[in-house]
Amino acid sequence: VTTPRMTPLAFVPVDADEVQRRATAFHSVMMRRRTVRDYSERDVPRQIIEAAIATAATAPSGANLQPWHFVAIGREQSGLRTRIRTEAEQEEREFYTHRAPREWLEALAPLGTDWRKPFLEIAPWLIAVFVKPFGRQVDGRAVKHYYAVESVGIATGFLIAALHHAGLATLTHTPSPMGFLNALLDRPSHERPFLLLVVGYPAENALVPDIARKPLQDVLSFK
Ligand SMILES: Cc1cc2nc3c(=O)[nH]c(=O)nc-3n(C[C@H](O)[C@H](O)[C@H](O)COP(=O)(O)O)c2cc1C
Repeated sequence: VTTPRMTPLAFVPVDADEVQRRATAFHSVMMRRRTVRDYSERDVPRQIIEAAIATAATAPSGANLQPWHFVAIGREQSGLRTRIRTEAEQEEREFYTHRAPREWLEALAPLGTDWRKPFLEIAPWLIAVFVKPFGRQVDGRAVKHYYAVESVGIATGFLIAALHHAGLATLTHTPSPMGFLNALLDRPSHERPFLLLVVGYPAENALVPDIARKPLQDVLSFK
Protein backbone atom coordinates (compact mmCIF):
# COMPACT_ATOMS: atom_id res chain seq x y z
CA VAL A 1 0.00 0.00 0.00
CA THR A 2 1.42 3.40 -0.98
CA THR A 3 1.63 6.25 1.55
CA PRO A 4 -0.87 8.97 0.60
CA ARG A 5 0.62 12.28 -0.45
CA MET A 6 -1.11 15.15 1.35
CA THR A 7 -1.40 18.82 0.41
CA PRO A 8 -2.78 21.87 2.29
CA LEU A 9 -6.50 22.52 1.85
CA ALA A 10 -7.18 25.71 -0.12
CA PHE A 11 -10.17 26.58 2.09
CA VAL A 12 -11.54 30.12 1.81
CA PRO A 13 -12.84 31.15 5.24
CA VAL A 14 -16.13 33.04 5.25
CA ASP A 15 -17.72 34.71 8.28
CA ALA A 16 -20.95 33.26 9.66
CA ASP A 17 -23.23 36.08 8.40
CA GLU A 18 -21.86 35.65 4.92
CA VAL A 19 -22.37 31.89 5.12
CA GLN A 20 -26.04 32.55 5.98
CA ARG A 21 -26.38 35.09 3.18
CA ARG A 22 -24.87 32.76 0.59
CA ALA A 23 -26.99 29.81 1.69
CA THR A 24 -30.16 31.86 1.27
CA ALA A 25 -29.02 33.48 -1.97
CA PHE A 26 -28.14 30.13 -3.55
CA HIS A 27 -31.49 28.73 -2.50
CA SER A 28 -33.32 31.58 -4.21
CA VAL A 29 -31.33 30.99 -7.39
CA MET A 30 -32.04 27.25 -7.34
CA MET A 31 -35.71 27.73 -6.49
CA ARG A 32 -36.15 29.30 -9.91
CA ARG A 33 -34.76 26.28 -11.77
CA ARG A 34 -37.39 24.55 -13.86
CA THR A 35 -37.22 21.79 -16.41
CA VAL A 36 -37.76 23.47 -19.77
CA ARG A 37 -39.15 21.58 -22.77
CA ASP A 38 -39.62 24.50 -25.14
CA TYR A 39 -36.34 25.99 -26.47
CA SER A 40 -35.30 28.99 -28.52
CA GLU A 41 -32.77 28.56 -31.32
CA ARG A 42 -30.44 31.11 -29.69
CA ASP A 43 -26.87 29.83 -29.66
CA VAL A 44 -24.81 29.07 -26.58
CA PRO A 45 -21.03 29.31 -27.03
CA ARG A 46 -19.12 26.07 -26.66
CA GLN A 47 -16.93 27.55 -23.86
CA ILE A 48 -19.99 27.86 -21.60
CA ILE A 49 -20.75 24.18 -22.06
CA GLU A 50 -17.11 23.38 -21.39
CA ALA A 51 -17.09 25.41 -18.17
CA ALA A 52 -20.27 23.72 -16.92
CA ILE A 53 -18.91 20.25 -17.67
CA ALA A 54 -15.64 21.22 -15.97
CA THR A 55 -17.79 22.09 -12.92
CA ALA A 56 -19.56 18.72 -13.14
CA ALA A 57 -16.19 17.01 -13.20
CA THR A 58 -15.29 18.59 -9.83
CA ALA A 59 -17.94 16.39 -8.17
CA PRO A 60 -16.90 13.98 -5.44
CA SER A 61 -16.77 10.35 -6.58
CA GLY A 62 -16.32 6.96 -4.95
CA ALA A 63 -12.55 6.45 -4.38
CA ASN A 64 -11.99 9.46 -6.69
CA LEU A 65 -12.50 7.20 -9.70
CA GLN A 66 -14.53 9.85 -11.58
CA PRO A 67 -16.70 7.29 -13.37
CA TRP A 68 -18.28 9.68 -15.86
CA HIS A 69 -18.05 10.65 -19.49
CA PHE A 70 -19.84 13.58 -21.10
CA VAL A 71 -20.52 13.92 -24.81
CA ALA A 72 -21.57 17.44 -25.87
CA ILE A 73 -23.37 17.63 -29.19
CA GLY A 74 -23.81 21.02 -30.82
CA ARG A 75 -26.49 21.92 -33.32
CA GLU A 76 -24.03 21.95 -36.22
CA GLN A 77 -24.07 18.13 -35.90
CA SER A 78 -27.47 18.24 -37.52
CA GLY A 79 -27.34 14.70 -38.97
CA LEU A 80 -26.46 13.27 -35.58
CA ARG A 81 -29.14 15.38 -33.89
CA THR A 82 -31.77 14.06 -36.27
CA ARG A 83 -30.68 10.48 -35.62
CA ILE A 84 -30.80 11.02 -31.84
CA ARG A 85 -34.27 12.53 -32.12
CA THR A 86 -35.52 9.74 -34.41
CA GLU A 87 -34.23 6.98 -32.10
CA ALA A 88 -35.47 8.73 -28.94
CA GLU A 89 -38.91 9.31 -30.41
CA GLN A 90 -39.11 5.70 -31.57
CA GLU A 91 -38.38 4.47 -28.02
CA GLU A 92 -40.63 7.06 -26.45
CA ARG A 93 -43.51 6.25 -28.78
CA GLU A 94 -43.24 2.59 -27.75
CA PHE A 95 -42.98 3.66 -24.12
CA TYR A 96 -46.02 5.94 -24.14
CA THR A 97 -48.19 3.61 -26.21
CA HIS A 98 -47.17 0.10 -25.00
CA ARG A 99 -44.35 -0.22 -22.49
CA ALA A 100 -45.22 2.21 -19.71
CA PRO A 101 -47.35 0.79 -16.89
CA ARG A 102 -50.54 2.74 -16.21
CA GLU A 103 -49.23 4.15 -12.88
CA TRP A 104 -46.19 5.57 -14.66
CA LEU A 105 -48.36 7.30 -17.26
CA GLU A 106 -50.55 8.64 -14.46
CA ALA A 107 -47.48 10.07 -12.70
CA LEU A 108 -46.42 11.75 -15.97
CA ALA A 109 -49.88 13.15 -16.79
CA PRO A 110 -49.45 16.47 -14.88
CA LEU A 111 -46.34 17.20 -16.98
CA GLY A 112 -48.16 17.00 -20.30
CA THR A 113 -45.24 15.18 -21.96
CA ASP A 114 -45.62 12.76 -24.87
CA TRP A 115 -43.38 10.90 -27.34
CA ARG A 116 -42.52 13.97 -29.40
CA LYS A 117 -39.06 15.44 -28.67
CA PRO A 118 -38.52 18.42 -31.01
CA PHE A 119 -36.14 20.00 -28.46
CA LEU A 120 -33.57 17.33 -29.40
CA GLU A 121 -33.05 19.24 -32.65
CA ILE A 122 -33.95 22.78 -31.60
CA ALA A 123 -31.86 23.37 -28.44
CA PRO A 124 -28.26 24.45 -29.14
CA TRP A 125 -26.68 21.67 -27.06
CA LEU A 126 -27.29 18.14 -25.87
CA ILE A 127 -25.02 16.64 -23.24
CA ALA A 128 -25.12 12.86 -23.01
CA VAL A 129 -23.90 11.63 -19.63
CA PHE A 130 -22.45 8.12 -19.39
CA VAL A 131 -21.65 5.98 -16.34
CA LYS A 132 -18.44 3.96 -16.55
CA PRO A 133 -18.94 0.95 -14.23
CA PHE A 134 -15.24 0.16 -14.59
CA GLY A 135 -12.10 1.74 -16.01
CA ARG A 136 -8.95 0.32 -17.56
CA GLN A 137 -5.45 0.37 -16.10
CA VAL A 138 -2.53 1.00 -18.44
CA ASP A 139 -1.97 -2.77 -18.67
CA GLY A 140 -5.60 -3.19 -19.78
CA ARG A 141 -6.87 -4.67 -16.49
CA ALA A 142 -10.38 -3.60 -15.45
CA VAL A 143 -10.71 -1.45 -12.29
CA LYS A 144 -14.11 -1.47 -10.66
CA HIS A 145 -15.66 1.95 -10.07
CA TYR A 146 -17.26 2.05 -6.62
CA TYR A 147 -20.58 3.89 -6.28
CA ALA A 148 -20.43 4.77 -9.97
CA VAL A 149 -24.13 5.61 -10.32
CA GLU A 150 -24.22 7.72 -7.15
CA SER A 151 -21.12 9.61 -8.31
CA VAL A 152 -22.53 10.33 -11.77
CA GLY A 153 -25.83 11.44 -10.18
CA ILE A 154 -23.93 13.98 -8.07
CA ALA A 155 -21.88 15.17 -11.07
CA THR A 156 -25.07 15.61 -13.09
CA GLY A 157 -26.57 17.63 -10.24
CA PHE A 158 -23.51 19.89 -10.34
CA LEU A 159 -23.93 20.19 -14.12
CA ILE A 160 -27.60 21.18 -13.93
CA ALA A 161 -26.87 23.66 -11.12
CA ALA A 162 -23.92 25.16 -13.05
CA LEU A 163 -25.98 25.67 -16.20
CA HIS A 164 -28.91 27.13 -14.30
CA HIS A 165 -26.61 29.42 -12.30
CA ALA A 166 -25.07 30.60 -15.59
CA GLY A 167 -28.52 31.61 -16.84
CA LEU A 168 -29.40 28.67 -19.08
CA ALA A 169 -32.29 26.23 -19.06
CA THR A 170 -32.03 22.44 -19.03
CA LEU A 171 -34.19 19.40 -19.52
CA THR A 172 -33.20 16.13 -17.92
CA HIS A 173 -34.24 13.65 -20.59
CA THR A 174 -34.23 9.88 -20.17
CA PRO A 175 -35.52 8.26 -23.34
CA SER A 176 -36.49 4.80 -22.22
CA PRO A 177 -34.39 2.76 -22.99
CA MET A 178 -31.45 4.80 -24.33
CA GLY A 179 -28.90 2.18 -25.35
CA PHE A 180 -28.98 3.68 -28.86
CA LEU A 181 -26.76 6.50 -27.55
CA ASN A 182 -23.72 4.18 -27.30
CA ALA A 183 -23.82 3.44 -31.02
CA LEU A 184 -24.64 6.99 -32.14
CA LEU A 185 -22.00 8.59 -29.90
CA ASP A 186 -19.27 5.92 -30.31
CA ARG A 187 -19.13 5.00 -26.63
CA PRO A 188 -18.02 1.51 -25.61
CA SER A 189 -20.79 -0.98 -24.86
CA HIS A 190 -19.91 -1.29 -21.14
CA GLU A 191 -20.66 2.40 -20.56
CA ARG A 192 -24.25 3.04 -19.55
CA PRO A 193 -26.12 6.10 -20.83
CA PHE A 194 -27.28 7.88 -17.68
CA LEU A 195 -29.29 10.71 -19.19
CA LEU A 196 -29.41 13.23 -21.96
CA LEU A 197 -29.34 16.85 -20.85
CA VAL A 198 -30.90 19.38 -23.21
CA VAL A 199 -29.36 22.84 -22.80
CA GLY A 200 -30.23 26.26 -24.14
CA TYR A 201 -32.40 29.33 -23.71
CA PRO A 202 -36.13 28.89 -23.19
CA ALA A 203 -38.39 29.84 -26.07
CA GLU A 204 -40.10 33.18 -25.63
CA ASN A 205 -43.29 32.62 -23.64
CA ALA A 206 -42.24 29.05 -22.74
CA LEU A 207 -44.72 27.37 -20.42
CA VAL A 208 -43.88 24.86 -17.68
CA PRO A 209 -46.20 22.51 -15.79
CA ASP A 210 -47.88 24.14 -12.81
CA ILE A 211 -46.57 21.69 -10.23
CA ALA A 212 -45.30 22.21 -6.70
CA ARG A 213 -42.32 21.07 -4.66
CA LYS A 214 -42.97 19.27 -1.39
CA PRO A 215 -42.80 21.55 1.65
CA LEU A 216 -39.50 21.37 3.50
CA GLN A 217 -41.05 19.79 6.58
CA ASP A 218 -42.09 16.81 4.45
CA VAL A 219 -38.59 16.15 3.18
CA LEU A 220 -36.43 17.20 6.13
CA SER A 221 -36.22 16.05 9.73
CA PHE A 222 -33.69 17.13 12.30
CA LYS A 223 -32.67 14.82 15.15
C1 LIG B 1 -33.77 11.25 -13.59
C2 LIG B 1 -34.76 12.16 -14.26
C3 LIG B 1 -35.33 11.78 -15.46
C4 LIG B 1 -36.21 12.64 -16.13
N1 LIG B 1 -36.69 12.28 -17.36
C5 LIG B 1 -37.46 13.15 -18.05
C6 LIG B 1 -37.83 12.86 -19.39
O1 LIG B 1 -37.44 11.85 -19.97
N2 LIG B 1 -38.63 13.74 -20.05
C7 LIG B 1 -39.04 14.91 -19.45
O2 LIG B 1 -39.77 15.67 -20.10
N3 LIG B 1 -38.69 15.22 -18.19
C8 LIG B 1 -37.88 14.38 -17.48
N4 LIG B 1 -37.45 14.71 -16.21
C9 LIG B 1 -37.82 16.02 -15.63
C10 LIG B 1 -38.86 15.88 -14.52
O3 LIG B 1 -40.13 15.61 -15.08
C11 LIG B 1 -38.89 17.21 -13.72
O4 LIG B 1 -37.65 17.38 -13.09
C12 LIG B 1 -39.99 17.21 -12.66
O5 LIG B 1 -41.24 17.18 -13.27
C13 LIG B 1 -39.88 18.43 -11.74
O6 LIG B 1 -39.98 19.61 -12.49
P1 LIG B 1 -38.85 20.74 -12.39
O7 LIG B 1 -37.56 20.12 -12.82
O8 LIG B 1 -39.34 21.83 -13.31
O9 LIG B 1 -38.78 21.19 -10.95
C14 LIG B 1 -36.58 13.87 -15.54
C15 LIG B 1 -35.99 14.23 -14.31
C16 LIG B 1 -35.09 13.41 -13.69
C17 LIG B 1 -34.44 13.86 -12.41
